[in-house]
Amino acid sequence: MRLPPPDVIGQVTLEKAIKSRRTIRSFASNPIPLKSFTQILWAAQGIIESGGFRRSVPSGGALYPIDVYAVVGEGGVQEIESGVYHYEPRTHEITLVKEGDFRRELAKAALGQMWMAGAPVTLIVTAEYKRSSSKYGERGVRYSMIEAGHVGQNIFLQAEALGLGAGIVGAFHDQEVIWVAKLSQGHEPLLIMPVGFRN
Ligand SMILES: Cc1cc2nc3c(=O)[nH]c(=O)nc-3n(C[C@H](O)[C@H](O)[C@H](O)COP(=O)(O)O)c2cc1C
Repeated sequence: MRLPPPDVIGQVTLEKAIKSRRTIRSFASNPIPLKSFTQILWAAQGIIESGGFRRSVPSGGALYPIDVYAVVGEGGVQEIESGVYHYEPRTHEITLVKEGDFRRELAKAALGQMWMAGAPVTLIVTAEYKRSSSKYGERGVRYSMIEAGHVGQNIFLQAEALGLGAGIVGAFHDQEVIWVAKLSQGHEPLLIMPVGFRN
């Protein structure tokens, strides 16, 4: 599915977004507008140069080992069916990985942090280490993790700038998350970020 183009002008200053960012653990059930969902995916991993390949976050050697998946709940994002989706930066599209609402399963995989299931949509930030390790060896793992941190902060700040809030979760069983979200082979989950309107 093709996504609407991202905006590059917003209503909230960067300083205000930094100041108001918190880890949010309680969300309203209102669906997120498609435009906001799209904007957050773009902030996480979107292409920022026309005709080029460079993304919204820095990457060691511009090798881009990070992927973003979205676990969309029933009625979680306007105009989108529930399911697990993969964001394709090059084409600014999402592709359906798995149909259905997997928010509860994902929360269970995160050591039963059931508050996560209340978020209309949850992003999973993954790394495929070999993309970076092919050039940097073991250090590619470190670079990938650093890059995931950049992605996480972009998600946080973009959510704030859109009047939404985000949480961040690092406590989960890797294999269960891989299974629940049907992550591609070699894509290791590093961060899980529930997103929605604050309660
Ligand atoms: C790598 C990482 C892992 C985290 N894992 C969890 C988690 O599993 N569950 C949770 O509720 N919060 C988690 N947090 C959020 C922290 O508890 C939170 O950032 C911290 O308390 C500071 O609060 P603030 O983000 O609102 O400023 C994590 C944060 C980071 C950076």
